[in-house]
Amino acid sequence: MKTLPITDDTHVLVLTGAGVSAESGVPTFRDAGGLWEGHDVHEVASPDGFARDPLLVWRFYSQRRAGMEGITPNGGHHALVALERRLGDRFLLVTQNVDGLHRAAGSERLIELHGELMRSRCTVCDRPPFEDRQAYKPGVAPMCGRCKAAGKDALLRPHIVWFGEIIDRAYLARIERFVDTAGRRLVFLAVGTSGLVYPAAGLVDAARHAGGTSWLVNAEAPANVERFDHVVLGPSGTVLPGLLAN
Ligand SMILES: NC(=O)c1ccc[n+]([C@@H]2O[C@H](COP(=O)([O-])OP(=O)(O)OC[C@H]3O[C@@H](n4cnc5c(N)ncnc54)[C@H](O)[C@@H]3O)[C@@H](O)[C@H]2O)c1
Ligand SMILES: [Zn+2]
Repeated sequence: MKTLPITDDTHVLVLTGAGVSAESGVPTFRDAGGLWEGHDVHEVASPDGFARDPLLVWRFYSQRRAGMEGITPNGGHHALVALERRLGDRFLLVTQNVDGLHRAAGSERLIELHGELMRSRCTVCDRPPFEDRQAYKPGVAPMCGRCKAAGKDALLRPHIVWFGEIIDRAYLARIERFVDTAGRRLVFLAVGTSGLVYPAAGLVDAARHAGGTSWLVNAEAPANVERFDHVVLGPSGTVLPGLLAN
């Protein structure tokens, strides 16, 4: 069985996508054909969609919050925590997932690029995003308590980076710094993400540019496999513990 080549100065940058949580029972959008109750996911995960129909968008996210009940991290999440404990600051985990499972497993050097399902923020005031695990009843769109106290009505929204929104510059800068510091010592590992769309595609190119090597663990081969130096096909929950064993 293949194992990731790790020496005393290897720096590992990991990017995970929906596939890493699939074995925990969190469905990927792709599995559902990109649809939710007949709606294109773009419709319920975009600023335009929210402006058009906030109740629909809140129903979608409330359903996803409720769907997390009883869901726990799998062997893939745990293997990444074990690797982080070995490498310390020579490890960085970037996830496109919003499910919070990496954090629940114990990952600390973690960037949740697309936000967090279990947080909300106000659409009007600058109150920081706050923990919100509530699955609101259909027909309910929650309002900001702080704005209400000031006599204003303001909708809350999920703390998620929607289609067409931009990723926090500070996150991208932290990733760039990690890649620059690592240089040729970088091992980039993409897991459970097609590897073809941004940011996965951008990161694999950055890793190559820095002189590092790139790995992909995914259920199926992407159209453009040559982009990665090594590809391991299989479910990440069972593949990662072996691949990351020392
Ligand atoms: N858990 C979550 O937080 C969650 C769930 C759905 C979607 N999303 C986000 O929405 C966006 C689009 O989602 P998407 O579902 O199209 O994701 P995606 O395009 O990243 O596709 C998921 C990939 O995972 C692979 N995969 C499926 N099961 C796997 C397994 N057990 N092991 C390894 N690989 C596996 C699939 O072959 C596919 O290539 C992404 O940003 C994604 O992270 C997040
Ligand atoms: Zn507010």
